[in-house]
Amino acid sequence: MKKNKNYVDLKDQPVPEGQHLLEVDDLKMYFHTEDGVVRAVDGVSYTLDRGETLGVVGESGSGKSVTAMTIMGLISMPPGKIEGGDVRYRGRSILEMTEEEMQHIRGNDIAMIFQDPMTSLNPVYKIGKQVGEGLRLHRGYSKQEALKRATELLDLVGIPEPEKRVNEYPHQFSGGMRQRVMIAMALACDPDILIADEPTTALDVTIQAQIIELMQEMQEKNGNAIIMITHDLGVVADMADKIMVMYAGRPVEFGTADEIFYESRHPYTWGLIRSIPEQAIDEKKPLTPIHGNPPSLMNLPQGCVFSPRCPYATDKCRKQRPERVVTESGHYSACHYSGDPEFLKNAPETSRTRKDSEKGGEA
Ligand SMILES: Nc1ncnc2c1ncn2[C@@H]1O[C@H](COP(=O)(O)OP(=O)(O)OP(=O)(O)O)[C@@H](O)[C@H]1O
Ligand SMILES: [Mg+2]
Repeated sequence: MKKNKNYVDLKDQPVPEGQHLLEVDDLKMYFHTEDGVVRAVDGVSYTLDRGETLGVVGESGSGKSVTAMTIMGLISMPPGKIEGGDVRYRGRSILEMTEEEMQHIRGNDIAMIFQDPMTSLNPVYKIGKQVGEGLRLHRGYSKQEALKRATELLDLVGIPEPEKRVNEYPHQFSGGMRQRVMIAMALACDPDILIADEPTTALDVTIQAQIIELMQEMQEKNGNAIIMITHDLGVVADMADKIMVMYAGRPVEFGTADEIFYESRHPYTWGLIRSIPEQAIDEKKPLTPIHGNPPSLMNLPQGCVFSPRCPYATDKCRKQRPERVVTESGHYSACHYSGDPEFLKNAPETSRTRKDSEKGGEA
């Protein structure tokens, strides 16, 4: 794709009045396979503004990556099919864009750090070429300019001897270094939205912290939004403004980080909170895992999808799918009992006490 001089980057256009930078509105994307329909994304909704970080949390197979790939227009259709809803970026429906328009958006306006760095880096091209590719494509940089900037980006993400490393191949990099390369690639064009899909799971704790810090520094500088995908609620505790908790392809709860940690209303979220290691240390209690396994997305249980694992499930839960209970602030939870103050007393205690003590501290 040649850089089209007349093309105006969407990220340079204002967000229309009353709208958000990114609006995911009841998005449904199913895979139609030989064995049946996989409801991988089933009614995902959230909004994101500039400078904000959204954490997307849920167990393996809950649809986190597929949701992100759908937004990036990277799901092959078929077998994938959009079954409903919309994704609007700066007021424009992404789902209605042509592939050519999407190529301008991808990497330039919305960039993604993929979950598996080895499959996303091309083994036959040098690192410098791969990191600079987006700049050539979207910014019309010359080869030399792109290589120079790629070297700066490698330096920025903490890769030693970047002048030497730009001329090496992916297999010469360790896992952690490859992850940094992926981040350099994603940051190259100063994206408006950075989607990071489990960018730190494969790394040791110190490098994890460095990488998160790096993304936050970039965000402070550029004001971009971040979507941070992780199975670990602890990872997003400090960095997210908003959190969406997914279970079996559906968002079961969405709210600000404070709402999720201190006023959560869904038993699945409670389970995740109770299984954060630090939380267990605070409470001086052992970790409490959520028993059982998530259902097959091809064969979802009747009623509430979480009911077979939910310690509070009633007959109603097993029969009737819960509607979302939405509060004024936009905090929603898909549980029949989310509006019942008695029921909400089952929420993890630490989260509530911690908030009370913080309140006390502020007063
Ligand atoms: N091409 C495909 N065809 C059919 N089903 C698919 C396809 N790609 C993904 N799926 C299914 O979609 C569901 C959601 O997968 P997804 O990769 O989004 O999970 P995830 O939440 O990112 O999990 P993890 O934490 O393991 O990365 C899974 O059940 C997966 O098997
Ligand atoms: Mg994933």
